[in-house]
Amino acid sequence: MTGLLFVIGMLAGLAVGFAAALVLRRRALRAFDLVLRALAALAAGAEPERFYAPLGDLAEREERFNDVLQQLAERLSSLELDRMRFLAIIRNLRAGVVLLDARRRVQVINPAAERIFGVWAPEVEQTYHLAMTHTYALESALDRVEQGEVLQLERREGERTLQIDLAPVPGTGGTLLVVHDVSEERRLLEVRSQFVANVSHELRTPLTVLGGFAETLLDDEVDEGHRRRFVRHIADETRRLSLLVDDLLRLAAIESGRERPERTRVDLLEASRAVAERYGPEAQARGVALGVAGEPTGALTDRDRIEGILISLIDNAVKYTQEGGHITVQIGSSGGAAELTVADDGPGIPQADLPHIFERFYRVDRSRQRATGGSGLGLAIARHLALSIGAELSVESEVGHGSAFHLRLPGMAQSGDA
Ligand SMILES: Nc1ncnc2c1ncn2[C@@H]1O[C@H](COP(=O)(O)OP(=O)(O)O)[C@@H](O)[C@H]1O
Ligand SMILES: [Mg+2]
Repeated sequence: MTGLLFVIGMLAGLAVGFAAALVLRRRALRAFDLVLRALAALAAGAEPERFYAPLGDLAEREERFNDVLQQLAERLSSLELDRMRFLAIIRNLRAGVVLLDARRRVQVINPAAERIFGVWAPEVEQTYHLAMTHTYALESALDRVEQGEVLQLERREGERTLQIDLAPVPGTGGTLLVVHDVSEERRLLEVRSQFVANVSHELRTPLTVLGGFAETLLDDEVDEGHRRRFVRHIADETRRLSLLVDDLLRLAAIESGRERPERTRVDLLEASRAVAERYGPEAQARGVALGVAGEPTGALTDRDRIEGILISLIDNAVKYTQEGGHITVQIGSSGGAAELTVADDGPGIPQADLPHIFERFYRVDRSRQRATGGSGLGLAIARHLALSIGAELSVESEVGHGSAFHLRLPGMAQSGDA
């Protein structure tokens, strides 16, 4: 009997134990589900929920688990913040930034690099860099950078010069490219050294002439008649030199853009008359008729610069037009623009020279120039002045028929009377 009771007791004990195990398993599973839910929320970027342990003896672990969750959440959000900062910085950099992975595929490209390479980020991301850079020289440079070197490369393609800095990205096997478009800097350097060469050349010619006459004058044998002629030449040449230096200074002042143009109401007709008046005696001496015609036309602009342009244009017309010729300064307006034309019936300018006459030191006929003594800077100055006040300066000319220079001040014409 006791045996039977014992067996029954055993079975009952087993059943209770089994039931308890089942309950425990369900609770453990629930606890596990809760842990999973907390981690999933974190992975999805949500604020971690507080985790409540479903079992009493998990309470102390519950506290620690919540701490770990909190730390993870903070770490993730600081990583995200770093990422946002990084993106904000490279997005706003003036330099092009490209990040390549270990297989030289584009990982990151900023807007400046998109502009430089003429690409759209989504189209080149994950593609081999050559599809975007087309720069085969980068391949051997990348070989070296992947060995840990830091390099700088300068590539010239047609009109464009790119400067590319390459550096390895530690731990990724990738490379960081920083790209600068230095075309403008290089071009300016070239223009400047060209300019210095031209100026030196322009200065040397009169200096050689001056030196020659001075040397000759040192010779006691020179008779009084020659002496006077030589001194006359020296005086002429000196005047020409100082005109050249004046022009150079004027050009430098305009180019530096230091002074902002004024904006006052200028009557173009009146300004033209004032400049023409100054050239009256010279025109008369050369036997050239100089007249101003048109309506009073106001423009909001810089009077000195308008006069500067007029001086260059009228000076040329007076100098280059043959005796018996005519020069007309015509003022008017069309389509809201004030217009000013200086026309002559002089020798005209050959078609082949027309595109160049606004360049510094450009002269159509160098031999004729020595006689008239221009610096070749007048039209360069006029064009710069026009640009500085937002005006357009253009020319029409036909050999044997004359030239017409047009100055157009868009949107500046003001109603009739001054
Ligand atoms: N009205 C004009 N008629 C003929 N040729 C002109 C006229 N204006 C300018 N040119 C030509 O354009 C060249 C450039 O003019 P500019 O820059 O004023 O230099 P320059 O000091 O020689 O006058 C002149 O050398 C001249 O050959
Ligand atoms: Mg001139």
